[in-house]
Amino acid sequence: MPNASLLRWVGGKVRYAPELARILASAKWARGSRYVEPFVGGASVYFALGPKRALLADANPDLVSFYQCVSDSAQAVYEIARGLSGRTSNAEFLDYRAEFNELQSGTRKAALFLYLNRTCFNGVWRVNRQGNFNVPFGSRELTMPELGAWLEVSASLKSADIQCSDWAATVNTVSKQDVVFIDPPYHQANSTESFARYTKGVFSEGDHRALAARVDALDALGCQILLTVSDSSLIRDLYPNFKISELGGWYTVGAKGSHLRSNEIVLRNFG
Ligand SMILES: C[S@@+](CC[C@H](N)C(=O)[O-])C[C@H]1O[C@@H](n2cnc3c(N)ncnc32)[C@H](O)[C@@H]1O
Repeated sequence: MPNASLLRWVGGKVRYAPELARILASAKWARGSRYVEPFVGGASVYFALGPKRALLADANPDLVSFYQCVSDSAQAVYEIARGLSGRTSNAEFLDYRAEFNELQSGTRKAALFLYLNRTCFNGVWRVNRQGNFNVPFGSRELTMPELGAWLEVSASLKSADIQCSDWAATVNTVSKQDVVFIDPPYHQANSTESFARYTKGVFSEGDHRALAARVDALDALGCQILLTVSDSSLIRDLYPNFKISELGGWYTVGAKGSHLRSNEIVLRNFG
């Protein structure tokens, strides 16, 4: 199992992955159970858990293509990314960003994805209405994970079906024996929604309400579900039947460049 994700991901659960994986491991896993994660992001909980079968999905097509490419051709992506590593500059960053936005797919696009993720401002992934990545330059040094880490991530991803889809389509495939981990974009009451804008759309209060209604239906079906969500009165009202515990600490990256206090809660219907 890999120690960590290759990526830094806003809202990523790297720090809490061992704790969340322990909770998920305590679920009742049947023979045909899949681990399903509809907002997979940096996938740190998946890597910590190492389930036999999984469906990993996210609405960010660049992220999903990166995982598919690393799963199939980790060494080729690593070789290209290694050529991009070391000192970098704003001018170089802008050239690579333009090239990334031109390319449709492939190993070079995946290597550029890693470069941009690790050198852009605070690891934020944001695209414009055309779907082009538009985050400015942030870091002057691209540090590269060792080849061994790439190969471990690749081996781990081979157990998973990796799809680009909206959470609602992913959740529609869930069956009774599946174990579902849901880590949606934050609900921030009384603030701008910029932090939640991972993909072209924004995850609004309406999305949180729709998600809670589907989670309720999965609960009724008998699925075991774990959620991590930002604490707010809205969120607590939406999940009245779930057990709540706190997930304290600090975010390591944030859209405003500061370290933000986390006030996330863990909700579950099992254990
Ligand atoms: C809080 S992050 C998940 C972090 C992840 N658990 C980790 O440890 O890195 C939320 C993810 O939801 C994805 N997302 C946003 N809107 C979505 C949607 N409508 N359907 C599916 N995924 C979505 C974003 O691209 C982002 O990767």
